[in-house]
Amino acid sequence: MSDAPRIVLLPGDGIGPEIVAAAQRLLEALGRFEFDERLMGGCSIDAHGVALTDEVLDACKGADAVLLGAVGGPKWDTTDPDAPRPEQGLLGLRKGMGLYANLRPVRPSPALVGASPLREERIVGTDLLVVRELTGGIYFGDSGRDGDSAHDTCEYSTGEIERIARAGFEAAQRRAEGSGRRGRVTSVDKANVLETSRLWREVVSGLAGDYPDVELDHLLVDNAAMQLVSRPAEFDVIVTENLFGDILSDESAMLTGSLGMLPSASLGEAGSPGLFEPVHGSAPDIAGEGIANPLATFLSAALMLRHGLGRPAEAEQIDAAVDAVLERGLRTPDLAAAEEATVGTDAMTAAVLAEL
Ligand code: IPM
Ligand code: MG
Repeated sequence: MSDAPRIVLLPGDGIGPEIVAAAQRLLEALGRFEFDERLMGGCSIDAHGVALTDEVLDACKGADAVLLGAVGGPKWDTTDPDAPRPEQGLLGLRKGMGLYANLRPVRPSPALVGASPLREERIVGTDLLVVRELTGGIYFGDSGRDGDSAHDTCEYSTGEIERIARAGFEAAQRRAEGSGRRGRVTSVDKANVLETSRLWREVVSGLAGDYPDVELDHLLVDNAAMQLVSRPAEFDVIVTENLFGDILSDESAMLTGSLGMLPSASLGEAGSPGLFEPVHGSAPDIAGEGIANPLATFLSAALMLRHGLGRPAEAEQIDAAVDAVLERGLRTPDLAAAEEATVGTDAMTAAVLAEL
């Protein structure tokens, strides 16, 4: 019997296959894994007419972890409400696997500080975590067209808010452990307008007593968007609902200078498999050119080892190898300043492997 962890690979569309293949090479260099590669996204629409088949969902539920590239592209862009869309595969996977907590850590690599659109003095010391609710809210509420109008509904239950809030508080405790500082959770909502946000604030505030070692504050989402660019270093854990988290995590990602550096973990109940994916999309404009940045996928593989497979030492190895190649000046085109020399996906992958 093999005790190698079983990992479903979902390369997806655009640059997805290139970066997932690179991550597979990285994992193979670290240890023994059993890989099961499947179609999800636009490629699955082309093959099966739907973005996610039941068979693939079942394979994911039965795996130890799922590593995803990216989905989508102009080929499948449509405003026809009845046409299948690649994103449905991703949403179906999140819902079907019960992945309600999306963790997006943002820590600019010291070597890339100059690539941030913000001045260095603003971003120095930034090290934050966006905890985004992933299976509720307006993404999953009733929606439809009615003659010349359309609607999307945002709904949250106390239970849904409570479990994501706990994920946020617990993450803050973990991050503060041994540091001598208090963890801090910033809960983001729009409680001055939305009823779901008022329930959100009430539930999150009600839990604070269970985490006396964590400081809690609340920000309205528009204000949070502003604070993120004016004082990013002061945030620790940001916990927020699905739509706000989608937007704020892209904004936070850009603090690092490139969306190409940000990994994510989507987790459900303890013991169930997680899904790990880079935050950047499928970048169809550069697909197939061999220049895609594989680093966010490598960092996602590190999150998979740490949060999904209980192998923190190998996760550290990947994180350190990524920092080392950046320190040595290797840059894929998305990371490079105007005059800087660049490397492609293969050379970047080989360099990271050499650092392990
Ligand atoms: C993300 C993406 C997805 C989302 C899309 C592709 C549906 O933007 O993971 O942030 O909005 O959740
Ligand atoms: Mg997004």
